Amino acid sequence: MITGAAKLAGVIGWPVSHSKSPVLHGHWLSRHGIDGAYIPMAVAPDNLPRAVHGLRALGFRGCNVTVPHKQAVMACCDKVEEDAKRIGAVNTLVVENDGSLTGRNTDGIGFLQNLKAADTGWRPGMGPALVIGAGGAARAVLQALLDAGVPEIRLANRTVQRAEGLAAEFSPIIDPLPMTAAEAAMDGCALLVNTSSMGMTGQPPLNLRLDALPRTALVTDIVYAPLRTPLLEDAAQRGNPTVDGLGMLLHQAVPGFEAWFGIRPNVDGALRAAVLSV
Ligand code: ATR
Repeated sequence: MITGAAKLAGVIGWPVSHSKSPVLHGHWLSRHGIDGAYIPMAVAPDNLPRAVHGLRALGFRGCNVTVPHKQAVMACCDKVEEDAKRIGAVNTLVVENDGSLTGRNTDGIGFLQNLKAADTGWRPGMGPALVIGAGGAARAVLQALLDAGVPEIRLANRTVQRAEGLAAEFSPIIDPLPMTAAEAAMDGCALLVNTSSMGMTGQPPLNLRLDALPRTALVTDIVYAPLRTPLLEDAAQRGNPTVDGLGMLLHQAVPGFEAWFGIRPNVDGALRAAVLSV
C-alpha cells in the first residue's frame, strides 16, 4: 500500500515489459516497508526528453534507464558522473534536492560486486582477464576491471576493430584480439568474462574450448537467460569456479534504490528467487 507521500521511481525503456527491475525494486520496497513505488514506463525514443523532464515535474526521485535510451538520455542530464562518461551510457537517473538531474552508470559496480559477493577467492590482482565481446556491455566490464586493478586484459571480439577501438579509448593494458585467438589467450588467465550476447536464449552458444584456461580461473557470464549458459556449464564441468550473470543485474540496482529511497538494500537469496519467479 502507498500513501499520498509515497516516494516515486521507475524504469524507462522501449519496450519495457520484459524488465525485471519492477519486481526487483518492488521486493526491496516491501521488504523494508517503504512508502514508495517503482513503476515501468514505456517511453518511445521520440518522447525521451519530454519524459525525463516530466520526471522532475512529477516529483520522481529518479529512475533506471534501459534499452534503447542509455546513450540518448545523457543529453537530458544536468550532470553525468565520471563512470557513466567513460562507459558512454547512463542506467540510473537521480533527481537531486535542488531539482537537477544526475546521470550515473552502475553496471560496472554491479559486475564487480557480483564477483566479490560470490566469494570464489578471485581477486583483481591475481592475473590477466580474458573478456569476450566489445559492445556496450563490455565497456562497463572493462571500466570495472581497470578500476579494480586487473593487471592485463585480453579483449577478443568477432569484429577485431571494435576491440581495437576500446583498447585505444580505455587503456594500453588492453590487448585487442580476433575471436580466433581467444582460446590461446586463455593461457594464464585468472578470469574469463563473456560480455557478448552469445549463449543467450535464441542466440548461438559461445563455442570456445577451455583447455588452455587454468582450472582455478573464475568464469563469469553477463548473460542471465539462461541462468546457466553453455559457457558456465562447460567451465563448471572441468572444475572452474563460476558466477552467473543474474547477480550483476541485482547488484547494479543497489545504488539507485539507495539514492531514491534512502536505504541500502541487500542482495540475497530471497531477492534472487523473487526475480527468477517472473
Ligand atoms: P551489448 O550492448 O549488449 O554489449 P552490442 O553492442 O550489440 O550489445 O554487442 C554485442 C557483442 O556480442 C559484440 O561484441 C558482438 O560482436 P561484434 O562486435 O563482432 O558484432 C558480439 N556478438 C553477438 N553475436 C555474435 C556472434 N554470433 N558471434 C560472435 N560475436 C557476437
